[in-house]
Amino acid sequence: MKHEAIEKNVGLMIILIIVSLLFGTLVELVPLFFAKETNEPIAGLKPLPALELEGRDIYVREGCNTCHSQMIRPLRAETERYGHYSVAGEFVYDHPFLWGSKRTGPDLARVGKRYSDDWHRAHMYNPRDVVPESNMPAFPWLFDNDIDGSRTGTKMAGLRKVGVPYTDEDIAGAAGAVEGKKEIDALVAYLQQLGTLLQSRR
Ligand code: HEC
Repeated sequence: MKHEAIEKNVGLMIILIIVSLLFGTLVELVPLFFAKETNEPIAGLKPLPALELEGRDIYVREGCNTCHSQMIRPLRAETERYGHYSVAGEFVYDHPFLWGSKRTGPDLARVGKRYSDDWHRAHMYNPRDVVPESNMPAFPWLFDNDIDGSRTGTKMAGLRKVGVPYTDEDIAGAAGAVEGKKEIDALVAYLQQLGTLLQSRR
């Protein structure tokens, strides 16, 4: 009889569905907040230096993450192609995460050190120059734009508030570290460190 009452009352049913979904979500989520492997940085993980941090922001601004994921799944086809699958401890200092789900281009989680700086610069200036069949857009303005270091330290201070262990020296030295650099320098520096702490593609 109770069951019938629920089935005949859409409002009640909606509320009960929401309650059961929330319960299921909590059961799945809450343990992760306390699990060591999802909270602790992997060995050697450091906050991004000033130039790489600016590079990351350019990556977000240009929407690279709309075509590239940074998340290698633990499946043979992926690890053969990209290298060691991604682990949570690699991303504890990432705010926001750039895992993504759309792969118009390849995953970039372990692209660091796979190509030379010169290759990346040529590729960003015009992808077709190095990969003739590429349909990735060109980003030539990155070669003209200077990095504005006036806010780099503030960004680090903000990240420190959410648990990224930047030191006072990092923050004080941030503007100087990006002085005179172009946006392309920052983006390439960011790409070159991606995923390098765990084994790269075999
Ligand atoms: C419209 C989709 C699209 C956008 C936006 C895009 N890419 Fe790509 N990217 C691709 C495609 C497709 C390829 C594969 C062909 C090639 O290598 O050019 C690629 C390849 C790459 C590669 C080489 C990866 C490898 O393992 O060979 C890098 C590095 C890269 N992109 C970085 C970037 C960065 C950085 C940005 C943002 C500034 C960006 N991409 C924006 C589509 C995109």
